[in-house]
Amino acid sequence: HSERTLVLVKPDGVQRQLVGQILARLEAANLSITALELRYPEQRHVEQHYQEHQDKPFFGPLVEYLTDSPVIAAVLAGEDAIHTTRRIIGDTDPANADSETIRGELGVDSMDQADDEGRALRNLIHASADPEDAGREIPLWFPDHEPAE
Ligand code: CMP
Repeated sequence: HSERTLVLVKPDGVQRQLVGQILARLEAANLSITALELRYPEQRHVEQHYQEHQDKPFFGPLVEYLTDSPVIAAVLAGEDAIHTTRRIIGDTDPANADSETIRGELGVDSMDQADDEGRALRNLIHASADPEDAGREIPLWFPDHEPAE
């Protein structure tokens, strides 16, 4: 069934000029962009976005990472959009992600390295994990986005 998901190209993806490649891969999977904006999110906004991680040791560094330089926020729509997007993105840790996924092919960081250095894992992209997350994240980033029919 048709659904929507929230995608962020994180600061490392924007800085490394991978926005076009990342969005092209999602569009190639028959997903359509229904909202897209370059954003400089406030700390409070990122804290809300990642509220489920607020008790994790990497929460502070994660908020710093996402507020350090601009991100691309987008809503992608299509058949099975949430699962399809997660599959194309690959494992959270680029070092473990399949080589044909976005994080596997384009990611250069690893969880071990990030944890060693006490900073957030730079894994290029975020996508909603499930319908509940998508339902919370889409209005957080795009309050005027039309609700799914
Ligand atoms: P994401 O899938 O957007 O969800 C939470 C983010 O926190 C994750 O991508 C990484 O950027 C970061 N993250 C997750 N686990 C760790 C970890 N163990 N150490 C540092 N950063 C992490």
